[in-house]
Amino acid sequence: MSVTPAPPETPDPAFLNRLRAEVRAALPQVIALRHDLHAHPELSGGEERTAGVVSGLLSQAGIVHETRIGGTHGIVAVVESGEGASGPTFALRGDMDALPITEENEVAYKSQNPGVMHACGHDGHTANLLGAALALQAVRQTLPPGRVKLIFQPAEETVRGADAMIEAGAIKEVDAILMLHGWPHLPPGQIGVRNGPAMASSDTFKVVIKGKGGHGAYPHDTFDPILCGAQVVTALQTLVSREIPPVSPAVVSVTMFHAGTARNIIPSTAEVCGTVRTLDPQLRKTMAERVERVIAGICAALRCGYDFAYTYGTPVTVNDARISNLVRVVGSEVLGSENVIELPEPTMGAEDFAYYVEKIPGAMFRLGTGCPFLLHTPKYDFGDAPLETGILLMAETARRFLAQGGLRPD
Ligand code: NI
Repeated sequence: MSVTPAPPETPDPAFLNRLRAEVRAALPQVIALRHDLHAHPELSGGEERTAGVVSGLLSQAGIVHETRIGGTHGIVAVVESGEGASGPTFALRGDMDALPITEENEVAYKSQNPGVMHACGHDGHTANLLGAALALQAVRQTLPPGRVKLIFQPAEETVRGADAMIEAGAIKEVDAILMLHGWPHLPPGQIGVRNGPAMASSDTFKVVIKGKGGHGAYPHDTFDPILCGAQVVTALQTLVSREIPPVSPAVVSVTMFHAGTARNIIPSTAEVCGTVRTLDPQLRKTMAERVERVIAGICAALRCGYDFAYTYGTPVTVNDARISNLVRVVGSEVLGSENVIELPEPTMGAEDFAYYVEKIPGAMFRLGTGCPFLLHTPKYDFGDAPLETGILLMAETARRFLAQGGLRPD
């Protein structure tokens, strides 16, 4: 099949003006939604009310959507161009879940759900995505041929949601995908972009060291799993410091060490757990072997056995340059190039958006919230100020993707 290359894509000022007007028109509803979601946060997998409210607003706007995608509360909505859906499909993804943290903000829309709050700003992400849906729906008659899929994803914080959405077909026939994440380190009106690895892979391990317990006064009759575990903890730190090239970032953190029942008993087992992060999918593949080799060597030297489990979590989130570049171009036009910030470094945090971009090209960008408090803390608040920027950026990037006929080389 031969494909005629799309003509070079240029900005469409008339469209952008109309889009701006539609975003402004939607803003009161979007802000009200964010406040409502912030006041009624729901934990990962339990986003029933959130999904109900979103679905209601989508229905009100006449936006076609399916609910209960991915086994829980996922929603996939579609805005189709007035010129038909024969063109490319671009997806926008927002996450909906909250965290088990007690809110310390004194705001009118403070969490009414004790011990649960939107400390990662997913209230803002959901409201933003709904805003993009409303704005795109309003201008659909003038959209270039194609479709925009809006993926409202549950359970990001437990990193289960993305995979479930993908399994359920959310990105079937999707050519590329975009997400944003609120970013307190930039002010509202600015965005942060980056090509390549943006967030780390996140895997975990657990080892049960099996020694021989006994009386604390007679250590020579035991194989001490605590001493062995202590050596394991220390030796694991040589992986990053002595084995992995210093220019290739990695983290091996031991985060749990459980052993013993009494002050005068050497236990028979000790449990050591931790997390492993990398920014390179190839390096990531080597980490399980490295961790187990160290454990096996130390255990053998100290006459202990072990059971080892390595659990793969989220992959590295790798931003596709073609999508990041599109966000740069749109960001420069919509916000001014001085407000498009090149992020100097990735973070070692993880994001389950990684599962989508393992399968299809995509990118995440950071949306400045200017909140003086960090993500996942009791006073984080996405705020209302970033919403207009976020909605415009998402909606216009989607239009540009359709206008250029889909993926283009860098
Ligand atoms: Ni988040």
